[in-house]
Amino acid sequence: MSVPVIAIDGPSGSGKGTIARRVAAALGFHLLDSGALYRLTALAASRRGVALDDVEALADIARSLDVRFGADDAGNEQVFLEGDDVSLAIRTEEAGAGASTVAALEPVRAALLELQHAFRKPPGLVADGRDMGTQVFPEAGLKVFLTASAEERARRRHKQLKDKGIDVSLAALSRDIEDRDRRDTQRMVAPLRPADDARILDSSGLSIEAVTNTVLDWVGET
Ligand code: DC
Repeated sequence: MSVPVIAIDGPSGSGKGTIARRVAAALGFHLLDSGALYRLTALAASRRGVALDDVEALADIARSLDVRFGADDAGNEQVFLEGDDVSLAIRTEEAGAGASTVAALEPVRAALLELQHAFRKPPGLVADGRDMGTQVFPEAGLKVFLTASAEERARRRHKQLKDKGIDVSLAALSRDIEDRDRRDTQRMVAPLRPADDARILDSSGLSIEAVTNTVLDWVGET
């Protein structure tokens, strides 16, 4: 039997990451944070002085990403690039904007495909991103498209960054989120959109528990 995949897609700040982590923990499944791979590609490029329009060099970086995911003793996510802890560096708005730019390049997306497929291991995978249900795992048994109003997403992102000690203004964050939404939905390759067979879930005003339980109920129905 093939390894089950739950795809959770949606725009920035919709809560995908949090929900995907909770659902994966509840089911004992592996987790793929595909956005981190685009963030890592942008970060690796900036470290090597590669311009964000040098498509071939960016695709090479994506193809040979040396990345490891883990958790510290307190259970906080840790991401290592070439052995360096970049857990905080990839979460800055700058890294997010760089990720959104490199994510619009087809050769970069193609280069990351194999790496993403390799996360599909027993007993199952929860994959979070923009195109998990449409491009990377089109055969996923459950596809969730998680949304929330732009204001709520900016507020959540603001809190998330503040908790990590990163200080940004809410207004600047709202502008970043709108810019990123525009780039992610209007790009030519793999634009952000729900798969035809995705279940849409608007998390505005809902608690993390309520959203997690809805997704777990849907898993139970598959
Ligand atoms: O989910 P995130 O904020 O970490 O994603 C960072 C950027 O990467 C986002 O602006 C769009 C892009 N991305 C993508 O194009 N496809 C994915 N599967 C995940 C992220």
